[in-house]
Amino acid sequence: MNTWRNLPGKLKVSLLSLHPRLRREARRVGEDLSGEEGELFLSLNRYDLAHSLAMARRLSDDPLLRRAALLHDTGKLRGELDIITRWLYTFLEMFFPGRLRRLCAAVEEGAHGEGILERVRSLPPGWRRGFFVQMHHGEIAAELLRRAGGDQELVRMVEEHQREPRDERARRLRQADDAL
Ligand SMILES: [Fe+2]
Ligand SMILES: [Fe+2]
Repeated sequence: MNTWRNLPGKLKVSLLSLHPRLRREARRVGEDLSGEEGELFLSLNRYDLAHSLAMARRLSDDPLLRRAALLHDTGKLRGELDIITRWLYTFLEMFFPGRLRRLCAAVEEGAHGEGILERVRSLPPGWRRGFFVQMHHGEIAAELLRRAGGDQELVRMVEEHQREPRDERARRLRQADDAL
């Protein structure tokens, strides 16, 4: 993702995240999701809530895409990925992408285990674990949705949302994600 190109969208979402009725709106929209999916959605921070709601509005003509928009970033676990680490990641992405790639490769090497959540917990709490969560938030969200009984197509779309889109739906999800 090119962070510079998306700056206007990010600024718009930052403003939306300050709206006093954001959480109320999120609770209303979250009622359309199943119980556990709704809880995952409402666990997002204010910025991700505003981002996901804006995407869902843009994709509201397709019910599956709308749900994927609401849930795609729920792998950005707030307990493991604090705001400072997110800023650091974005700062490196914008100004030092090469350094970020090397750091991510080193973090990747340090993560062990079978499933994605086991690999998260194998890393020491702190920026390494946060970077890993940021890098793999699609897979993490997919695992959480699988455990919550989410349907296969939804899980697949969420899991692959950081990868090259493989069909028209995935392309639309990616386009909205990049723009907002
Ligand atoms: Fe994402
Ligand atoms: Fe996103």
